[in-house]
Amino acid sequence: MRLVLALLAAGACPFAWSGTAFAQSASQPSQPGAIERGHHLFNSQCAHCHGEDASAEDDYYNLPQLLIDKNDAFFFATVNKGLPEKGMPPWKDVLKPRQIADLLAYIRSLEREQGLIDNQAPAH
Ligand code: HEC
Repeated sequence: MRLVLALLAAGACPFAWSGTAFAQSASQPSQPGAIERGHHLFNSQCAHCHGEDASAEDDYYNLPQLLIDKNDAFFFATVNKGLPEKGMPPWKDVLKPRQIADLLAYIRSLEREQGLIDNQAPAH
């Protein structure tokens, strides 16, 4: 019964599993490759709305700020589905889960650099 429920939950939310798995590695500060890849990807895909190096001056677009109190699952869900009513496109057909994890690693690294989140504890 428990297994059936787990399968149902995974089926209902295909990104839940990968979100959790990748989020754990994405949050580790010791992932320089991921952060670098995320940085590059960010500037090619996200920067024209969220600012070069995620440094949008307008708080409305500043992801390090916006994501302080959001968990990793929120990031995966939002990037995959987008926010059509606000003009944020969905990325699930464009980016692989691994690339979204790299983007998250990059943004979390900025949050740590900027002292927005605890330097030691992984962000969840
Ligand atoms: C065409 C413009 C556009 C592009 C390109 C874009 N976004 Fe967004 N994004 C938005 C808008 C508008 C919002 C809503 C901002 C708000 O509510 O403060 C948003 C919100 C978000 C949020 C939710 C923030 C929150 O806490 O509510 C995340 C996460 C996000 N974007 C990630 C990304 C990532 C990662 C990329 C690149 C893969 C990207 N966005 C590319 C326009 C864009």
